[in-house]
Amino acid sequence: MNTLELGQRVIMNTYARFPLTLVRGEGMYVWDENNRKYLDFMAGIAVNSLGHAHKKLAGAIARQAEMLIHVSNLYWTPAQVALAQKLVANSCFDKVFFCNSGAEAIEGALKLARKYSAKRGEGRIEIIAMRNSFHGRTFGAVTATGQTKYQRDLSPLLPGIVHADYNSFESVAACVTDKTAAVLIEPVQGEGGIIPAKPEFLKSVRRLCDERGILLIYDEVQCGAGRTGYLFAFERYGAEPDVAVLAKGLAGGVPIGVLLARGAAAEGFSPGDHASTFGGNSLAAAAANVVLDELLTAGSSGHGSLLDNVKRQGEYLTQKLRALAAVRPCVTDVRGFGLMQGIELSTEAAPIISKCIDSGLLLVSAGPSVIRFVPPLIVNEKDIDEAAAILEDCM
Ligand SMILES: Cc1ncc(COP(=O)(O)O)c(C=O)c1O
Repeated sequence: MNTLELGQRVIMNTYARFPLTLVRGEGMYVWDENNRKYLDFMAGIAVNSLGHAHKKLAGAIARQAEMLIHVSNLYWTPAQVALAQKLVANSCFDKVFFCNSGAEAIEGALKLARKYSAKRGEGRIEIIAMRNSFHGRTFGAVTATGQTKYQRDLSPLLPGIVHADYNSFESVAACVTDKTAAVLIEPVQGEGGIIPAKPEFLKSVRRLCDERGILLIYDEVQCGAGRTGYLFAFERYGAEPDVAVLAKGLAGGVPIGVLLARGAAAEGFSPGDHASTFGGNSLAAAAANVVLDELLTAGSSGHGSLLDNVKRQGEYLTQKLRALAAVRPCVTDVRGFGLMQGIELSTEAAPIISKCIDSGLLLVSAGPSVIRFVPPLIVNEKDIDEAAAILEDCM
């Protein structure tokens, strides 16, 4: 029995997996069990920010594993505190809470919103989330997710979450009541089809939140940690949140999630209010420290930082996708920025993606008719040329 057959027998059937078994990776490439090579333009769904088998990342993980993997959050560890300090020093946030995934970070944000309000004696419990959003699969996160296909057969969902239209200030304003604790927004919707927020939308929601004493929470699980060319996607917008969450790419593939908050929101939790056994353990923190150093620090050989590369390659990717749209009329839109982009198709994305895999290129969809491009942040122009050529051919 091969890996695929055994896996089908013993692993619950929750993923529409491709019939592909991957065994190793290096840089922008992964190899299957038959030693066939694939150019990776999906990076574990926007996770492998430094690509595969990155020497510095692997070395830091190995060194940390030999020293101390985990001791619980009843003690302090240098790797975790250093990571928190890096996140705070490079953002508008004052304090962080570590967990292990995007959904867990969202749960933390939802709890923080209610705790923050309770602490102020306001008792606000409602969260306004966006239609077409995606926030994860746990009960709070899936309730906040604005797509009913993820909620089927799960009722009753978490009470107190309502949905407004994304990019419509009027729709958000119409949902506000005296009980509204927070507004939850992805600055770039990921699973919903790579849809960036309009700058005026975020700015006007920010003003509304200030006027009404509501927390503004950004879900940067997918668009954060450098993916758009900034540590946080909201830096492009000039509308800072009170709270944000990161996960996916932050530790380059080691599970991590972070809840970040500023001002009074950073003091919303009291001891005992929230916890996570593994959250920010030394192994995950050591990995995230390497990723942040690579993102933020220019190389000694005169190369810019990884964020500079994301900006540069993001522009090149946009050019190539627009050129593709010019010769393949089934491409009806090119969206996104940095290394989080998508093309909307007038047809289904799945058959094209399967064909690309057969031709040695890994891609992932974002909804039924969008092909998403979220490669490792180390991608270069040659990789983009190669991916664009395979894709054009397969289309
Ligand atoms: C914006 C956003 N939020 C939350 C999540 C959930 O993250 P996780 O799968 O790590 O729980 C995802 C995952 O795709 C996401 O894209």
